Amino acid sequence: MPLFEHHVFVCHNVRPAGAPRPSCTSDGKSDLHGRLQQLTKEAGLAGKVRINKSGCLDQCEHGPTVVVYPEAVWYGGVKLEDAEAIVAEHLVAGQPVERLRMDKGCVNAKSCPHRS
Ligand code: FES
Repeated sequence: MPLFEHHVFVCHNVRPAGAPRPSCTSDGKSDLHGRLQQLTKEAGLAGKVRINKSGCLDQCEHGPTVVVYPEAVWYGGVKLEDAEAIVAEHLVAGQPVERLRMDKGCVNAKSCPHRS
């Protein structure tokens, strides 16, 4: 079996109400993972792209969070309707969706305008 060309992680983490950090889902569920899988399959990328649910990716203040490897492109605030752009522009055409990218200064930052 060939290696995956892209590996996509979709955060499904949920924290209890009142937790000190936000979480990417309120109930551990998200339609985003399934939508990305569906669109990837429709684009003929089955077996080439792997879409996985993940636990916390530690970019919680920017969620819902999606990361695409091997490029390590981090997307934040991803909505269900953004799935088409991620698949068509990034996974098919190879161009990250700039409007969804987290600011470089925010990824893995201990503090940023979104995290105190
Ligand atoms: S809860 Fe999604 S990145 Fe932390």
